[in-house]
Amino acid sequence: MKTEILEYIKEIQETHIEKFKDTAAEVEQFRIKFLGKNGVMNQLFEQFKSIPNDQKKEMGQALNQLKTAAQQKIEEFKSYVESKEESSHLHDLTMPTDFSDLGSRHVLSVVMNEISEIFSRIGFTVADGPEIEDDYHVFTALNFALDHPARDMQDTFFIEKEPDVNKPTDVLLRTHTSSVQVRVMEHQKPPIRVIMPGRVFRNEAISARAHCIFHQVEGLYIDKKVSFADLKQTLLYFAKEMFGEQTQIRLRPSYFPFTEPSAEMDISCNICGGKGCNICKGTGWLEILGCGMVDPNVLEQSGIDSKEYSGFAFGMGVERMAMLKYQIRDLRLYFENDLRFLKQFESII
Ligand code: PHE
Repeated sequence: MKTEILEYIKEIQETHIEKFKDTAAEVEQFRIKFLGKNGVMNQLFEQFKSIPNDQKKEMGQALNQLKTAAQQKIEEFKSYVESKEESSHLHDLTMPTDFSDLGSRHVLSVVMNEISEIFSRIGFTVADGPEIEDDYHVFTALNFALDHPARDMQDTFFIEKEPDVNKPTDVLLRTHTSSVQVRVMEHQKPPIRVIMPGRVFRNEAISARAHCIFHQVEGLYIDKKVSFADLKQTLLYFAKEMFGEQTQIRLRPSYFPFTEPSAEMDISCNICGGKGCNICKGTGWLEILGCGMVDPNVLEQSGIDSKEYSGFAFGMGVERMAMLKYQIRDLRLYFENDLRFLKQFESII
């Protein structure tokens, strides 16, 4: 029996995986041969029962050696087969790939595109202008008085400031997209029907409700006989498209240097439907934009005859639109680029 065992051990030691062709199946055969129910090990254990007691110790040790050798060999084969399978997967070019994480549009782009899209359906085109502007396009051409507080350093980021207030040639970051209105009127003859989305800057401390960078979409419509009724109807159409068919609007008198008359527009609260909640502070209304009839001075300043033409303008904050649409409570979230926030808008195009 001893020699038999030693021969088996030798056989095991000399069996190398390279001998196998269909490896996984052959490894299994090898296992059955040694460790299977009717395999070598069990047969030897049967014989072991009937050997004389004085040989039991030696034979027992030899048998254990054989068993360990067989088990080790099988483990070795198995890990070889597994690694071979894995590497063959790596080279299988027909396997489906893991989808890499695609980025998504930022919620502000989504909302800005949606606003542009709504106005493009009624014939508005999109215009663009510089973020670094001069005093003329941001203030003077828009009828801002020389001592208007917006011209103060506390409200506006100046890049170069002219010390003489009577000669405003300052270079600054635009505080509103209304400057693009001026640029459009300088280059285009009426009829004009444009919206102007873009980034604006104000010298504000950053908090949940205020930021030094934000986005606006400006609108300008100039033609013969444009009236306040056209303004109201255009904005009602916009509000319903943006916030749903049930949305109502209300206009409150306001003041902007470049529009006369001027108004602020509220929509009925899209959260509580007008009943009053903490978003609308119990009023049932949410303020969404400023608007008005373009002041004749502004038209004249840009070379448009105010006796022949009239127009309306409006401007809205994109962050605020997104806040109302998706109930975002903190302005800072837009700029922190926290993936947990950004990923919530992945499915919106
Ligand atoms: N520019 C104004 C603002 O930033 C908004 C506005 C635009 C008002 C056009 C009237 C007309 O608040």
